[in-house]
Amino acid sequence: MHDYNYYLRLVDGAINNIQYPKNPSKLYEPIAYTMNQGGKRVRPVLTLMTCEAMGGNLDDAINVALGIELFHNFTLLHDDVMDRADIRRGQPTVHTRWNENVAILSGDTMLNMAAQAISKVDDDILPAMVKLFNDTAIKVYEGQQYDMDFEKRNDVTVEEYINMIRLKTSVLLGCACKAGALVARTDEENAESIYNMAVNLGLAFQLQDDYLDVWGDPVTFGKEIGGDIVNNKKTFLLINAIDRSAGNDAIELNRWLADTSSPKQEKIQAVTALYEKLGLKDLARNAIVNYSHNALDLLHETKMSYDAYKVFDGIINRLVDRDR
Ligand code: IPE
Ligand code: IPE
Ligand code: MG
Ligand code: MG
Ligand code: MG
Repeated sequence: MHDYNYYLRLVDGAINNIQYPKNPSKLYEPIAYTMNQGGKRVRPVLTLMTCEAMGGNLDDAINVALGIELFHNFTLLHDDVMDRADIRRGQPTVHTRWNENVAILSGDTMLNMAAQAISKVDDDILPAMVKLFNDTAIKVYEGQQYDMDFEKRNDVTVEEYINMIRLKTSVLLGCACKAGALVARTDEENAESIYNMAVNLGLAFQLQDDYLDVWGDPVTFGKEIGGDIVNNKKTFLLINAIDRSAGNDAIELNRWLADTSSPKQEKIQAVTALYEKLGLKDLARNAIVNYSHNALDLLHETKMSYDAYKVFDGIINRLVDRDR
């Protein structure tokens, strides 16, 4: 096994080698802009790591890894339109720098580039790979629709929230690992095991994203802080705030949920203060640690060398402690 940075270099190398047609420039420039602006590359790294941990050849997995990163970046272009987000990875989002139509069409193109890359596998695993990719993509869209539906509801339960983030975020981490397992031709049971590990890692990962959306440092995180609060996103934090607040706190929270005219910063500051008063920082941290422990337990059930296990253990800990 190698370390995270080794896999990251392979992924970055493959991304740097993508050749984009020159025209229409408004279709391809935003794709190059997005793919070249970095990002943690968590998903393609997981694909390569899983493939190697299960005895596969990295050369056979690199296109699949690239396809999964293209798909992820496609979802971000559309997500930023849906979330009205102006900044990502410290730079203007595509719909802000160009416009919404550009974000839609460049995003669509990335989706199909992803499908092409993912199809570059041997014939014996092609049907399973295509099925995994399509099933995962549809789940992500289901999750994104729930995410938007929940903006309009104030009675979302924690259970509904967990199901929503499982769909919008976790299944793609699961897919990333399972795709690597497919390339390595490991048995079905082992592929399921690493999939379930990654789903739990994904839950911790999205909870951490929601946490950083409130308490992150905007420069390090690369996104605008408080976007979830402004959009009334039913994050773990807001659901628990609604649940825990009483008396004047409840009145104040409801007022902010209905507010459409105050300056954004006022709402962000007030709701953040309520979260802190209600002890939600600790509650969220505990939930993140719990899901990462689930991921570690499921990792133990997966067959791989001790060496490989340690690399996965490292990535789990690193992702749930991340500040970007
Ligand atoms: C952002 O994903 C969307 C979520 C699922 C939280 P990442 O946090 O992996 O974003 P990048 O690719 O590193 O920028
Ligand atoms: C991410 O949810 C889910 C997908 C992009 C599919 P968020 O909306 O929280 O992601 P960020 O915070 O914009 O990266
Ligand atoms: Mg979103
Ligand atoms: Mg978003
Ligand atoms: Mg977020």
